[in-house]
Amino acid sequence: MAKRRLDQLDVAGKRVLVRVDFNVPIDQGIEGISLYDQRLRATLPTIKYLIEQGSKIVLCSHLGRPNGEVVEELRLAPVGDRLAFLLERPVNSLPEITGSVVAEAIAAMSPGDVVLLENLRFHPGEEKNDGVFACELADSVDCFVMDAFAVTHRAHASTDGITKFLPSAMGLLVQREVEEMGKALESPEKPLAALMGGAKVSDKILLLDNLLEDLDHLFIGGGMCVTFLNAMGYLTGDSRIEEDRLEFAREIMRRAEAANIEVHLPEYVVIANEFAADPGETDVMHVGDVPDGWYIMDIAPSSAQDFADALSKCKTIIWNGPMGVFEMPRFSAGTRTVAESIAKLVGVTSVVGGGSTAEAIEELGLMDKMTHVSTGGGASLEFLEGKELPGIAALPDV
Ligand code: 3PG
Repeated sequence: MAKRRLDQLDVAGKRVLVRVDFNVPIDQGIEGISLYDQRLRATLPTIKYLIEQGSKIVLCSHLGRPNGEVVEELRLAPVGDRLAFLLERPVNSLPEITGSVVAEAIAAMSPGDVVLLENLRFHPGEEKNDGVFACELADSVDCFVMDAFAVTHRAHASTDGITKFLPSAMGLLVQREVEEMGKALESPEKPLAALMGGAKVSDKILLLDNLLEDLDHLFIGGGMCVTFLNAMGYLTGDSRIEEDRLEFAREIMRRAEAANIEVHLPEYVVIANEFAADPGETDVMHVGDVPDGWYIMDIAPSSAQDFADALSKCKTIIWNGPMGVFEMPRFSAGTRTVAESIAKLVGVTSVVGGGSTAEAIEELGLMDKMTHVSTGGGASLEFLEGKELPGIAALPDV
C-alpha cells in the first residue's frame, strides 16, 4: 500500500516536526561528522522543500545509544552546526527535547526557520515507544514528516507513536529509499546480481533467503566468504569460521545450482600472518592453499577484477557488505576495485545498502556514481529481507 507523500500533506506555513536520522560518527568532532555526513545531506531535499513552503521546521533525531540518559558527548549541537553549513542558513540547536524551552523556541520561529531538538534517546520514553512522550513531542507542532529511513526498523516514540497524534507523511528521503530499493527487489532489469560481503554470514541469512531465487549472479566476498570457502572444503587458515553457518552456506550453494544462479567466490585472497591493520607479513594465495596461522583479509586483485568483469554484464546490482577488512587501509583494495568498476558502468542500476558499505563508498568519494546508496544500515537490510518496517508501516496509506 502506498504511503502518504510529503506533497500530500498540508505543510504550508505549518510547524512541522521532521524525524531525521543524524546518527553520525561524532567521536572525531566536527571533522568526523563532515567526513560521513551522507545522512545530513540526504535530508536536505525535504528541509529545502519545507523552507519553500514557509514551514517552521522542527528537526528531531537520535545520536548513539545513551539509554534514556543525558550523555554530554552525544548532544546534537555539533551535528546542528554541520547541518547549518550544508543548508547555508542558521540551525537553532536546543538543549531540550520537550518542555517550555522548546515550546517558547517554536513559538518564536518565523517561516523557514530551522530548529533541532536535543537527542531523542536522552529520554527513556523514546525507545519504549511511550505514548506520553510521543504526545509531548507532538505538543508544539502541527504535523509530522518521517524522513529518518535509517531508523524505520525501530518502533520508537518518534518513529511510530508520534503518528497517532499528528497528520503524518513520509519525507522525500524515505520516499526515495523505498522507491529505489523497492524497484530493485520487485522489478529489476536483468541480469540481477547480489554482491554480498561484510563480516558474518549470520547477518545476511534472511537477505540471501529473500533474494536468492530471483538472482542471476551471487558474488560473495568479505569475511562471510571465508565460511563459504570452508564449507566447500577449501583451507581457510586461522580465519574465523562460523561453524554453525557451514550447513547454511552449503544449502545456499545447492539452491543456487538448482536455480541456475552463478555463484562467484574469490579464487585468490590476500592473507596476513596476524589479524591486524599492520601485520608482519602479507601474501596473496589461492583459496586452496591458505596455511595454518594465516588470516584471509581481502579478495585478491585478480579476483576483484574477475568480480568486476562479471558485474559488468549485469543490469541491476544489489550490494551489501565490503569485500575485505575495508577499515584497515592495507585490506581495502578489493572493495575499492569493485566499487570503482561499478561506478564506471553505464546503464546499470546499482543499489548499495547502508552501514559499512555506504561508509566505504563515501570514503572512496563514489556516492554520486551509484544509482542509490541507502542511508540505512539495519533498516536497508531489513527492507531487502522483505520485512515490514514499523516507521513506514505507521504512516497513513493513500
Ligand atoms: C543506524 O545507525 O543504523 C540507525 O541510526 C539506527 O541506530 P540504532 O541501531 O542504534 O537503533
